[in-house]
Amino acid sequence: MSGESSQSGKRNDLADPARFADDQELEGSLRPRTLATFIGQNLLREQLSIFIQAALSRGEPLDHVLLAGPPGLGKTTLAGIIANEMGVAMGTTSGPALERKADMAAILTSLGEGDVLFIDEIHRLNRAIEEILYPAMEDFQIDIVIGQGPSARSIRLDLPHFTLIGATTRSGLITTPLRDRFGLSHRLEHYPVEDLDLIVMRSADLLGVRLDAEGAEEIACRSRGTPRIANRLLKRVRDYAQVRHQGHITAAIAREALELFQVDGEGLDHIDREILNLILRNFDGGPVGLSTLAVAIGEEPDTIEDVYEPYLLQRGFLKRTPRGRVLTRLGYQHCGASMPNGVPQLFDNEH
Ligand SMILES: Nc1ncnc2c1ncn2[C@@H]1O[C@H](COP(=O)(O)OP(=O)(O)O)[C@@H](O)[C@H]1O
Ligand SMILES: [Mg+2]
Repeated sequence: MSGESSQSGKRNDLADPARFADDQELEGSLRPRTLATFIGQNLLREQLSIFIQAALSRGEPLDHVLLAGPPGLGKTTLAGIIANEMGVAMGTTSGPALERKADMAAILTSLGEGDVLFIDEIHRLNRAIEEILYPAMEDFQIDIVIGQGPSARSIRLDLPHFTLIGATTRSGLITTPLRDRFGLSHRLEHYPVEDLDLIVMRSADLLGVRLDAEGAEEIACRSRGTPRIANRLLKRVRDYAQVRHQGHITAAIAREALELFQVDGEGLDHIDREILNLILRNFDGGPVGLSTLAVAIGEEPDTIEDVYEPYLLQRGFLKRTPRGRVLTRLGYQHCGASMPNGVPQLFDNEH
């Protein structure tokens, strides 16, 4: 249990994609390309499969799809799968990358009939650009302004019938008019260990890594319910097994490696534990507001809310109350402390 919160420079931060740029290539190579090889999320898979088959049999483009959920659960992967299953090309952009209306117009007019346009982090689109999307999504038309000053005029352009796939970590920030224009909208949840187990075994197979069933389970249990993290841990354990052992991954070797990388038995990483420990030690178990917590950790409030909290909430270590975040009994236990008497009654009915 490491309680230091001061060294924020070097962190074993497995949940943050930006800090592992070298893993991006690996990520691409491990991406399932078809719905059949996408593991778990059964309800969504079934909905998508019917949705896609129906559109294909009518010879129509697919209706717009919104995918929400924490990072690393397969939103980008699913967008690629949808385009692949529909047999169309996919253009990719992201909310923060689009600065001017003209950028959006250029992308929309470059699409082919039936193509998928994937907009990652769609909650970060600026409002003016978002407004171009409304008629584009609904009527496949955009109005663009040509020229400047008194000679400027607006012309209406027809667009191909495209499918917009939006991904967001913050479904709460999607405006109602935008949300209403999606035909299918789904929130991905963290994966159960059984699914992560299958994902680890599939990835090991693709990478040619030798791995016991118990070794796979050890990695699956510690992956924070997140396929991206499962793949990353597999890669780190593979390196460890290669250097310290003969390359073959057993449960014991996986455990040793993951301890070295500071991933604990519940799959919590360094920052997860720091959040729990800070609430315990600096704020007497809470309640503490998100922004105060963010300052204490040295992270953006958005990162805490999008990346760290969902898993801690889902696992029941943390609870949201109207007055802020509080540790649960499990949270106390995980920090090696016991919950003071009287606290549970105060918070158990709130959410
Ligand atoms: N259901 C799944 N089955 C197998 N691999 C998955 C699954 N979901 C995600 N992955 C893997 O996890 C990694 C991250 O997925 P990605 O689609 O980029 O997540 P997101 O866009 O939601 O952040 C990818 O390498 C992908 O191969
Ligand atoms: Mg993504």
